[in-house]
Amino acid sequence: MRNKIRSAVFPVAGRGTRFLPATKASPKEMLPIVDKPLIQYAVEEAVDAGATKLIFVTGSSKRAIEDHFDSDPALEKSLADAGKDELLASIRDIVPTGVSCIYIRQGEPLGLGHAVLCARPAVGDEPFYVHLADDLISGDPSCLSQMAAEYERHGGSVIAVENVPPEDTSSYGIVAIDESNENRITQIVEKPDPEDAPSSLAVVGRYLLAPEIFDKLATTGRGAGGEIQLTDAISDLLADKPVHAYSFDGVRYDCGNKLGYMKASIAYGLAHPGIGEALRAHLEDLICEK
Ligand code: G1P
Repeated sequence: MRNKIRSAVFPVAGRGTRFLPATKASPKEMLPIVDKPLIQYAVEEAVDAGATKLIFVTGSSKRAIEDHFDSDPALEKSLADAGKDELLASIRDIVPTGVSCIYIRQGEPLGLGHAVLCARPAVGDEPFYVHLADDLISGDPSCLSQMAAEYERHGGSVIAVENVPPEDTSSYGIVAIDESNENRITQIVEKPDPEDAPSSLAVVGRYLLAPEIFDKLATTGRGAGGEIQLTDAISDLLADKPVHAYSFDGVRYDCGNKLGYMKASIAYGLAHPGIGEALRAHLEDLICEK
């Protein structure tokens, strides 16, 4: 048996400028897909994969995330008094018993690698998940649970990947892998132009990382976009420790852009027991009218 993964890190300090004005005063991670904010899907996935310590690396204007995962006795009482039991249950157990939330401020916007390094004191010397809430992945078992099973098989670090159109490589970390050696990553580059990309296998927002990544992050200089990149630290780690690419089973929605967000809203809406059927009928009407 390997170490159980107990910690999940959620870097949530980014401002979400692609969704302005919606994200002017509220965090992009609080954008709802049907009736739950993106960050709640993230937390549910991490808890499902065994995490009991949820570490949010936050920034200014992100207080709504803390409030969302806190209890709200006044609201609970008013729902209980009104007999709205289903709604009451939906807000009461957002963070299950035995799971704790830790909030760490990322004082400066120095990038994803820096955000992960900020979580070091809370994670300690054990493997941990990193979950980027923008990437919503529907899968059963969940993507992180699949990665935990993969980690159980061979240890090391595990990074979720997906094939993307070659012209999109400049939006992702891109890896080269050795398929004959448990899909070990041999090269990883942050947002290369298509002509420089080692493949079209893109890193998506799920990582299971060995704690040695922290020493690498501590010495990683600024890379693409002038930020401290997690990708660069992973590249340093490759020389010392195995890092495996994992092609997950599931559908990823890039909720960091408007089209991906709308696709997710429609897919989750259609699957929702309360509104799915009516939404399908409405969409069919809309398309027939065209
Ligand atoms: C980050 C990472 C990138 C990864 C992507 C997945 O980029 O830096 O390597 O492929 O997440 O969503 P961002 O989307 O934050 O620019």
